[in-house]
Amino acid sequence: MTPQANPISFQTVDIALEDRSYGIHIGAGLLNASDSFRDLPAAHSAMIVTNDTVAPLYADRLQRSLESRFRQIHMVCLPDGESHKTWESLNLIFDALLARGCDRKTVLFALGGGVVGDMTGFAAACYMRGVPFVQVPTTLLAQVDSSVGGKTAINHPLGKNMVGAFYQPERVICDLDVLQTLPPRELSAGLAEIIKYGPIADMAFLDWIEVNIGALLAREPAALAHAVRRSCEIKAAVVGQDEREAGLRAILNFGHTFGHAIESGLGYGQWLHGEGVGCGMVMAARLSQRLGLVDVAFVDRLRVLVQRAGLPVVGPRLSATDNAGRYLELMRVDKKAEAGEIRFVVINGPGHATVRSAPDALVREVIDACCE
Ligand code: NAD
Ligand code: GLY
Repeated sequence: MTPQANPISFQTVDIALEDRSYGIHIGAGLLNASDSFRDLPAAHSAMIVTNDTVAPLYADRLQRSLESRFRQIHMVCLPDGESHKTWESLNLIFDALLARGCDRKTVLFALGGGVVGDMTGFAAACYMRGVPFVQVPTTLLAQVDSSVGGKTAINHPLGKNMVGAFYQPERVICDLDVLQTLPPRELSAGLAEIIKYGPIADMAFLDWIEVNIGALLAREPAALAHAVRRSCEIKAAVVGQDEREAGLRAILNFGHTFGHAIESGLGYGQWLHGEGVGCGMVMAARLSQRLGLVDVAFVDRLRVLVQRAGLPVVGPRLSATDNAGRYLELMRVDKKAEAGEIRFVVINGPGHATVRSAPDALVREVIDACCE
Protein backbone atom coordinates (compact mmCIF):
# COMPACT_ATOMS: atom_id res chain seq x y z
CA MET A 1 0.00 0.00 0.00
CA THR A 2 1.21 3.50 -0.73
CA PRO A 3 1.13 6.21 1.95
CA GLN A 4 -2.19 8.04 2.06
CA ALA A 5 -2.11 11.57 0.74
CA ASN A 6 -5.25 12.63 2.59
CA PRO A 7 -5.20 13.40 6.29
CA ILE A 8 -6.26 10.37 8.28
CA SER A 9 -8.39 10.67 11.39
CA PHE A 10 -6.95 9.79 14.76
CA GLN A 11 -7.40 10.65 18.41
CA THR A 12 -4.56 12.01 20.46
CA VAL A 13 -3.93 11.45 24.15
CA ASP A 14 -1.38 13.92 25.46
CA ILE A 15 1.18 12.97 28.02
CA ALA A 16 2.25 16.09 29.89
CA LEU A 17 5.87 15.99 31.01
CA GLU A 18 7.06 19.56 30.45
CA ASP A 19 9.81 19.50 27.81
CA ARG A 20 9.38 15.74 27.43
CA SER A 21 5.65 15.94 26.60
CA TYR A 22 4.33 14.03 23.60
CA GLY A 23 1.19 12.74 21.93
CA ILE A 24 -0.14 9.22 21.66
CA HIS A 25 -1.90 8.98 18.31
CA ILE A 26 -4.60 6.31 18.09
CA GLY A 27 -6.42 5.36 14.91
CA ALA A 28 -6.85 2.93 12.04
CA GLY A 29 -4.33 3.01 9.19
CA LEU A 30 -1.81 5.32 10.88
CA LEU A 31 1.17 3.24 9.83
CA ASN A 32 0.25 3.78 6.25
CA ALA A 33 -0.16 7.55 6.53
CA SER A 34 2.86 9.80 6.19
CA ASP A 35 0.87 12.42 8.15
CA SER A 36 1.30 10.33 11.28
CA PHE A 37 5.00 11.13 11.16
CA ARG A 38 4.70 14.86 10.57
CA ASP A 39 6.69 17.25 12.76
CA LEU A 40 9.11 14.72 14.18
CA PRO A 41 12.65 15.95 14.85
CA ALA A 42 14.44 16.72 11.60
CA ALA A 43 17.19 14.25 10.77
CA HIS A 44 19.11 12.83 7.85
CA SER A 45 18.50 9.23 8.82
CA ALA A 46 16.07 6.92 10.55
CA MET A 47 16.59 3.43 11.94
CA ILE A 48 13.64 1.05 12.12
CA VAL A 49 14.15 -1.47 14.90
CA THR A 50 11.86 -4.47 14.57
CA ASN A 51 11.91 -8.26 14.78
CA ASP A 52 11.75 -11.17 12.38
CA THR A 53 7.99 -11.68 12.94
CA VAL A 54 6.84 -8.08 12.57
CA ALA A 55 9.22 -7.05 9.77
CA PRO A 56 7.55 -9.12 7.01
CA LEU A 57 4.14 -7.80 8.09
CA TYR A 58 4.72 -4.08 8.57
CA ALA A 59 8.28 -2.86 7.91
CA ASP A 60 7.62 -1.97 4.25
CA ARG A 61 4.57 0.04 5.22
CA LEU A 62 6.49 2.05 7.81
CA GLN A 63 9.47 2.51 5.51
CA ARG A 64 7.29 3.98 2.75
CA SER A 65 5.62 6.37 5.16
CA LEU A 66 9.03 7.61 6.33
CA GLU A 67 10.49 8.09 2.87
CA SER A 68 9.36 11.70 2.49
CA ARG A 69 10.97 12.69 5.82
CA PHE A 70 14.33 10.93 5.91
CA ARG A 71 17.01 10.62 3.24
CA GLN A 72 18.27 7.33 4.62
CA ILE A 73 16.12 4.71 6.26
CA HIS A 74 17.91 1.75 7.80
CA MET A 75 16.52 -1.31 9.48
CA VAL A 76 17.72 -3.77 12.09
CA CYS A 77 15.77 -6.95 12.63
CA LEU A 78 16.12 -8.59 16.06
CA PRO A 79 15.33 -12.18 16.98
CA ASP A 80 11.76 -12.40 18.27
CA GLY A 81 10.81 -13.17 21.84
CA GLU A 82 11.13 -12.28 25.52
CA SER A 83 14.12 -14.60 25.81
CA HIS A 84 15.94 -12.24 23.42
CA LYS A 85 15.38 -9.11 25.53
CA THR A 86 19.09 -9.19 26.31
CA TRP A 87 22.43 -7.38 26.04
CA GLU A 88 23.13 -9.40 22.91
CA SER A 89 20.05 -8.06 21.12
CA LEU A 90 20.72 -4.54 22.40
CA ASN A 91 24.18 -4.74 20.92
CA LEU A 92 22.74 -5.67 17.53
CA ILE A 93 21.04 -2.25 17.55
CA PHE A 94 24.29 -0.45 18.44
CA ASP A 95 26.18 -2.50 15.82
CA ALA A 96 23.67 -1.48 13.14
CA LEU A 97 23.70 2.20 14.16
CA LEU A 98 27.48 2.39 14.11
CA ALA A 99 27.92 0.33 10.95
CA ARG A 100 25.49 2.66 9.12
CA GLY A 101 27.27 5.77 10.41
CA CYS A 102 24.16 6.99 12.23
CA ASP A 103 24.69 10.33 13.96
CA ARG A 104 23.19 11.74 17.16
CA LYS A 105 20.15 13.11 15.31
CA THR A 106 19.14 9.73 13.89
CA VAL A 107 15.56 8.89 14.87
CA LEU A 108 14.90 5.33 16.01
CA PHE A 109 11.50 3.77 15.27
CA ALA A 110 10.44 0.87 17.50
CA LEU A 111 8.17 -1.26 15.32
CA GLY A 112 6.88 -4.19 17.34
CA GLY A 113 5.57 -5.25 20.72
CA GLY A 114 6.84 -4.40 24.16
CA VAL A 115 10.07 -6.34 23.76
CA VAL A 116 11.14 -4.33 20.71
CA GLY A 117 9.81 -1.11 22.27
CA ASP A 118 11.64 -1.54 25.57
CA MET A 119 14.92 -2.42 23.86
CA THR A 120 14.70 0.33 21.25
CA GLY A 121 13.99 2.89 23.95
CA PHE A 122 16.97 1.73 25.96
CA ALA A 123 19.18 1.82 22.87
CA ALA A 124 17.94 5.35 22.11
CA ALA A 125 18.72 6.42 25.69
CA CYS A 126 22.29 5.14 25.37
CA TYR A 127 23.38 5.68 21.77
CA MET A 128 25.61 8.75 21.64
CA ARG A 129 24.14 9.56 25.09
CA GLY A 130 20.64 9.88 23.69
CA VAL A 131 18.89 10.05 20.32
CA PRO A 132 15.19 10.63 19.61
CA PHE A 133 12.88 7.65 19.21
CA VAL A 134 9.30 6.96 18.23
CA GLN A 135 7.17 4.10 19.49
CA VAL A 136 5.12 2.29 16.83
CA PRO A 137 3.56 -0.43 18.99
CA THR A 138 2.07 -3.40 17.15
CA THR A 139 0.68 -5.48 20.02
CA LEU A 140 -2.33 -4.62 22.14
CA LEU A 141 -0.15 -4.78 25.24
CA ALA A 142 2.33 -2.34 23.78
CA GLN A 143 -0.41 0.06 22.64
CA VAL A 144 -2.08 0.21 26.06
CA ASP A 145 0.98 0.11 28.25
CA SER A 146 4.60 -0.49 27.31
CA SER A 147 4.97 2.14 24.58
CA VAL A 148 3.69 4.88 26.90
CA GLY A 149 5.59 6.41 29.77
CA GLY A 150 9.25 5.97 28.94
CA LYS A 151 10.23 2.85 30.84
CA THR A 152 12.89 1.04 28.83
CA ALA A 153 14.85 -2.06 29.80
CA ILE A 154 16.36 -5.43 29.09
CA ASN A 155 16.09 -8.53 31.27
CA HIS A 156 18.85 -10.01 33.43
CA PRO A 157 18.91 -13.75 34.17
CA LEU A 158 18.34 -12.84 37.83
CA GLY A 159 15.44 -10.48 37.27
CA LYS A 160 13.01 -9.02 34.78
CA ASN A 161 13.64 -5.53 33.33
CA MET A 162 16.50 -5.06 35.79
CA VAL A 163 18.73 -2.97 33.52
CA GLY A 164 17.21 0.07 31.85
CA ALA A 165 16.42 3.77 31.87
CA PHE A 166 13.55 6.23 31.93
CA TYR A 167 13.58 7.76 28.47
CA GLN A 168 10.52 9.25 26.78
CA PRO A 169 9.68 8.80 23.09
CA GLU A 170 8.93 11.71 20.76
CA ARG A 171 5.56 10.19 19.88
CA VAL A 172 3.54 7.00 20.13
CA ILE A 173 1.69 5.87 17.01
CA CYS A 174 -0.97 3.23 17.67
CA ASP A 175 -2.33 1.86 14.40
CA LEU A 176 -5.34 -0.23 15.41
CA ASP A 177 -5.33 -2.12 12.10
CA VAL A 178 -2.18 -4.04 13.01
CA LEU A 179 -3.99 -5.72 15.89
CA GLN A 180 -5.86 -7.87 13.37
CA THR A 181 -2.78 -10.05 12.76
CA LEU A 182 -1.99 -10.59 16.42
CA PRO A 183 -2.13 -14.23 17.59
CA PRO A 184 -5.12 -14.80 19.96
CA ARG A 185 -2.83 -15.55 22.91
CA GLU A 186 -1.11 -12.17 22.43
CA LEU A 187 -4.47 -10.40 22.23
CA SER A 188 -5.41 -11.90 25.59
CA ALA A 189 -2.06 -10.84 27.04
CA GLY A 190 -2.88 -7.25 26.07
CA LEU A 191 -6.31 -7.53 27.68
CA ALA A 192 -4.59 -8.23 31.01
CA GLU A 193 -3.00 -4.77 31.02
CA ILE A 194 -6.31 -3.19 29.97
CA ILE A 195 -8.19 -4.93 32.79
CA LYS A 196 -5.49 -3.71 35.20
CA TYR A 197 -6.58 -0.08 34.80
CA GLY A 198 -10.06 -0.80 36.22
CA PRO A 199 -9.28 -1.96 39.76
CA ILE A 200 -6.44 0.53 40.22
CA ALA A 201 -8.11 3.65 38.81
CA ASP A 202 -11.48 3.45 37.11
CA MET A 203 -14.25 1.00 38.09
CA ALA A 204 -16.51 2.41 35.36
CA PHE A 205 -13.89 1.25 32.85
CA LEU A 206 -13.94 -2.20 34.51
CA ASP A 207 -17.74 -2.26 34.05
CA TRP A 208 -17.25 -1.34 30.40
CA ILE A 209 -14.65 -4.09 29.87
CA GLU A 210 -16.99 -6.68 31.41
CA VAL A 211 -19.74 -5.70 28.98
CA ASN A 212 -17.39 -5.49 25.98
CA ILE A 213 -14.98 -8.37 26.55
CA GLY A 214 -16.59 -10.32 23.68
CA ALA A 215 -16.22 -7.37 21.32
CA LEU A 216 -12.59 -6.97 22.34
CA LEU A 217 -11.85 -10.65 21.78
CA ALA A 218 -13.59 -10.34 18.40
CA ARG A 219 -11.32 -7.34 17.68
CA GLU A 220 -14.19 -5.01 16.90
CA PRO A 221 -12.51 -1.74 15.88
CA ALA A 222 -14.73 0.55 17.98
CA ALA A 223 -14.15 -1.54 21.11
CA LEU A 224 -10.40 -1.68 20.54
CA ALA A 225 -10.28 2.08 19.92
CA HIS A 226 -12.07 2.83 23.19
CA ALA A 227 -9.97 0.36 25.20
CA VAL A 228 -6.68 1.70 23.85
CA ARG A 229 -7.71 5.32 24.33
CA ARG A 230 -9.02 4.94 27.89
CA SER A 231 -6.01 2.85 28.92
CA CYS A 232 -3.64 5.48 27.52
CA GLU A 233 -5.58 8.27 29.24
CA ILE A 234 -5.25 6.56 32.62
CA LYS A 235 -1.59 5.75 32.10
CA ALA A 236 -0.83 9.27 30.86
CA ALA A 237 -2.49 10.77 33.94
CA VAL A 238 -0.45 8.58 36.29
CA VAL A 239 2.86 9.08 34.49
CA GLY A 240 2.19 12.82 34.24
CA GLN A 241 2.13 12.96 38.04
CA ASP A 242 5.01 10.59 38.73
CA GLU A 243 7.27 10.01 35.74
CA ARG A 244 10.04 8.20 37.63
CA GLU A 245 7.94 6.14 40.00
CA ALA A 246 8.69 7.98 43.21
CA GLY A 247 5.31 6.73 44.45
CA LEU A 248 2.02 6.78 42.55
CA ARG A 249 3.29 5.19 39.32
CA ALA A 250 3.92 1.92 41.15
CA ILE A 251 0.15 1.23 41.05
CA LEU A 252 0.59 0.47 37.33
CA ASN A 253 2.44 -2.62 38.52
CA PHE A 254 -0.71 -4.22 39.95
CA GLY A 255 -0.26 -7.98 39.44
CA HIS A 256 3.33 -7.57 38.28
CA THR A 257 5.13 -8.68 41.46
CA PHE A 258 3.55 -12.14 41.28
CA GLY A 259 3.59 -12.03 37.46
CA HIS A 260 7.29 -11.26 37.16
CA ALA A 261 8.06 -14.13 39.56
CA ILE A 262 6.08 -16.46 37.29
CA GLU A 263 7.83 -15.16 34.16
CA SER A 264 11.36 -15.43 35.48
CA GLY A 265 10.67 -18.58 37.54
CA LEU A 266 9.41 -20.51 34.52
CA GLY A 267 12.04 -19.01 32.20
CA TYR A 268 11.34 -15.95 30.04
CA GLY A 269 8.94 -16.70 27.22
CA GLN A 270 7.14 -19.69 28.80
CA TRP A 271 4.27 -17.58 30.07
CA LEU A 272 3.67 -14.31 28.24
CA HIS A 273 4.12 -11.12 30.25
CA GLY A 274 0.38 -10.42 30.07
CA GLU A 275 -0.42 -13.94 31.23
CA GLY A 276 1.78 -13.44 34.29
CA VAL A 277 0.07 -10.10 34.94
CA GLY A 278 -3.42 -11.61 34.54
CA CYS A 279 -2.78 -14.39 37.00
CA GLY A 280 -0.72 -12.04 39.19
CA MET A 281 -3.69 -9.65 39.48
CA VAL A 282 -5.84 -12.48 40.81
CA MET A 283 -3.14 -13.31 43.36
CA ALA A 284 -2.69 -9.65 44.33
CA ALA A 285 -6.46 -9.24 44.67
CA ARG A 286 -6.54 -12.29 46.93
CA LEU A 287 -3.75 -10.77 49.01
CA SER A 288 -5.73 -7.52 49.22
CA GLN A 289 -8.73 -9.48 50.46
CA ARG A 290 -6.65 -11.36 53.06
CA LEU A 291 -5.36 -8.00 54.26
CA GLY A 292 -8.98 -6.92 54.77
CA LEU A 293 -8.94 -4.30 52.00
CA VAL A 294 -11.54 -5.74 49.58
CA ASP A 295 -14.21 -8.41 49.85
CA VAL A 296 -14.28 -11.91 48.36
CA ALA A 297 -16.83 -10.79 45.74
CA PHE A 298 -14.28 -8.34 44.34
CA VAL A 299 -11.65 -11.07 43.98
CA ASP A 300 -14.16 -13.40 42.30
CA ARG A 301 -15.27 -10.65 39.93
CA LEU A 302 -11.70 -9.97 38.82
CA ARG A 303 -10.89 -13.68 38.48
CA VAL A 304 -13.94 -14.28 36.27
CA LEU A 305 -13.02 -11.37 33.99
CA VAL A 306 -9.38 -12.44 33.69
CA GLN A 307 -10.55 -15.93 32.79
CA ARG A 308 -13.06 -14.61 30.23
CA ALA A 309 -10.18 -12.69 28.63
CA GLY A 310 -8.51 -16.05 27.94
CA LEU A 311 -5.86 -15.70 30.63
CA PRO A 312 -4.65 -18.16 33.27
CA VAL A 313 -5.99 -17.63 36.79
CA VAL A 314 -4.11 -20.41 38.59
CA GLY A 315 -0.40 -19.87 39.24
CA PRO A 316 2.14 -22.45 38.09
CA ARG A 317 4.30 -24.38 40.54
CA LEU A 318 7.79 -22.92 40.49
CA SER A 319 9.29 -25.50 42.88
CA ALA A 320 8.41 -29.10 43.65
CA THR A 321 9.60 -28.74 47.24
CA ASP A 322 8.85 -25.18 48.47
CA ASN A 323 6.68 -23.44 45.89
CA ALA A 324 5.74 -20.44 48.06
CA GLY A 325 9.36 -20.08 49.13
CA ARG A 326 10.48 -19.94 45.51
CA TYR A 327 7.88 -17.25 44.71
CA LEU A 328 9.08 -15.23 47.71
CA GLU A 329 12.71 -15.61 46.65
CA LEU A 330 11.93 -14.37 43.13
CA MET A 331 9.74 -11.53 44.35
CA ARG A 332 12.54 -10.15 46.52
CA VAL A 333 14.34 -9.20 43.27
CA ASP A 334 11.37 -6.98 42.30
CA LYS A 335 12.29 -3.31 41.73
CA LYS A 336 9.74 -2.20 44.33
CA ALA A 337 11.46 -4.28 47.06
CA GLU A 338 13.18 -2.17 49.73
CA ALA A 339 15.99 -3.66 51.85
CA GLY A 340 14.83 -7.13 50.83
CA GLU A 341 11.22 -6.47 51.87
CA ILE A 342 8.73 -7.21 49.12
CA ARG A 343 6.23 -4.44 48.42
CA PHE A 344 2.94 -5.36 46.74
CA VAL A 345 0.45 -3.27 44.83
CA VAL A 346 -2.82 -4.02 46.60
CA ILE A 347 -6.36 -2.80 46.01
CA ASN A 348 -7.60 -0.81 48.98
CA GLY A 349 -11.14 -0.35 47.79
CA PRO A 350 -12.46 -0.75 44.24
CA GLY A 351 -10.71 1.71 41.92
CA HIS A 352 -7.94 2.53 44.38
CA ALA A 353 -4.51 0.97 44.77
CA THR A 354 -1.63 1.39 47.14
CA VAL A 355 1.77 -0.18 47.73
CA ARG A 356 2.59 -1.99 50.96
CA SER A 357 4.37 -4.95 52.47
CA ALA A 358 2.66 -8.06 53.85
CA PRO A 359 3.74 -10.75 56.31
CA ASP A 360 5.53 -13.65 54.58
CA ALA A 361 3.18 -16.14 56.24
CA LEU A 362 0.15 -14.46 54.70
CA VAL A 363 1.78 -14.25 51.27
CA ARG A 364 2.60 -17.96 51.53
CA GLU A 365 -1.06 -18.72 52.24
CA VAL A 366 -2.14 -16.70 49.21
CA ILE A 367 0.37 -18.45 46.96
CA ASP A 368 -0.70 -21.86 48.24
CA ALA A 369 -4.35 -20.97 47.61
CA CYS A 370 -3.73 -19.58 44.11
CA CYS A 371 -1.27 -22.11 42.66
CA GLU A 372 -1.77 -25.51 41.08
P1 NAD B 1 6.25 -9.05 22.44
O1 NAD B 1 6.93 -7.81 22.17
O2 NAD B 1 7.08 -10.27 22.67
O3 NAD B 1 5.21 -9.34 21.26
C1 NAD B 1 4.41 -10.49 21.32
C2 NAD B 1 4.52 -11.34 20.04
O4 NAD B 1 3.68 -10.78 19.04
C3 NAD B 1 5.90 -11.40 19.45
O5 NAD B 1 6.13 -12.67 18.92
C4 NAD B 1 5.82 -10.37 18.34
O6 NAD B 1 6.77 -10.56 17.33
C5 NAD B 1 4.44 -10.57 17.84
N1 NAD B 1 3.80 -9.46 17.18
C6 NAD B 1 3.94 -8.15 17.49
N2 NAD B 1 3.07 -7.43 16.77
C7 NAD B 1 2.40 -8.28 15.98
C8 NAD B 1 1.36 -8.12 15.02
N3 NAD B 1 0.79 -6.94 14.79
N4 NAD B 1 0.93 -9.21 14.37
C9 NAD B 1 1.44 -10.43 14.66
N5 NAD B 1 2.40 -10.65 15.57
C10 NAD B 1 2.87 -9.58 16.22
O7 NAD B 1 5.30 -8.93 23.73
P2 NAD B 1 4.38 -7.76 24.28
O8 NAD B 1 3.30 -8.44 25.02
O9 NAD B 1 4.04 -6.78 23.23
O10 NAD B 1 5.33 -7.00 25.32
C11 NAD B 1 5.81 -7.64 26.47
C12 NAD B 1 7.03 -6.90 26.94
O11 NAD B 1 6.67 -5.57 27.29
C13 NAD B 1 7.68 -7.50 28.16
O12 NAD B 1 9.06 -7.57 27.97
C14 NAD B 1 7.34 -6.53 29.27
O13 NAD B 1 8.31 -6.51 30.28
C15 NAD B 1 7.28 -5.24 28.52
N6 NAD B 1 6.46 -4.21 29.17
C16 NAD B 1 7.01 -2.99 29.34
C17 NAD B 1 6.26 -1.98 29.91
C18 NAD B 1 6.85 -0.59 30.01
O14 NAD B 1 6.24 0.25 30.67
N7 NAD B 1 7.96 -0.32 29.37
C19 NAD B 1 4.96 -2.22 30.31
C20 NAD B 1 4.41 -3.49 30.13
C21 NAD B 1 5.18 -4.48 29.53
N1 GLY C 1 3.95 -0.72 33.17
C1 GLY C 1 4.20 -0.03 34.36
C2 GLY C 1 4.70 1.35 34.18
O1 GLY C 1 4.83 1.82 33.07
O2 GLY C 1 5.00 2.00 35.12
